[in-house]
Amino acid sequence: EALTPLEGGTLALTATRSDWALAWITLSDKGSAGLRTDESGPLMAADTRAKLPLCHEQGFMIPDDPHALRALVMELALGQGYDLILTSGGTGLAPRDTTPEALLPLLDRRLPGFEQAMMQASLAKTPTAALSRAIAGTIGRTILVTLPGSRKAVSENLAAILPALGHALDKLHG
Ligand code: MTE
Repeated sequence: EALTPLEGGTLALTATRSDWALAWITLSDKGSAGLRTDESGPLMAADTRAKLPLCHEQGFMIPDDPHALRALVMELALGQGYDLILTSGGTGLAPRDTTPEALLPLLDRRLPGFEQAMMQASLAKTPTAALSRAIAGTIGRTILVTLPGSRKAVSENLAAILPALGHALDKLHG
């Protein structure tokens, strides 16, 4: 916050928004059945926290169910007003990989630059990055980014967009 003196001696409060609320969602049938420990979820939060000032973070784990995912993202973005939503998993080609199909209809504006940055950085690491169909975009005043599921993929994809994410959030919030 900065106090800017105006002519005539009055003060205007110029609020600068710089602490963001993060929600992360792990898509995992095994994880949500208690058959696997979720490491990608906490990693999404830790990597983001290291680069962006966060005022709040909350994690979720759900099965690879497009209806549950869509409902949760709608609630977090439009109901609860989270600034940033990250998902991990379900971007590939397995039958239950439906994250992009579930979330694409929710986007007001797509962020192809984020998608390309993730793909470019990922292909430089591994040829199997080409299997990811990860998407990014805005829902109201929320930025949504889907990430592939493995810990390695989460870190590598996030590293490609985190340098631009703070500026993107600033711009989206005017
Ligand atoms: N991207 C990066 N940077 N590093 C990776 O190891 N793994 C790929 C790809 N993207 C990977 C990556 C693999 S093996 C798959 S199958 C796809 O992401 C999709 O992963 P998902 O189905 O868990 O979302």
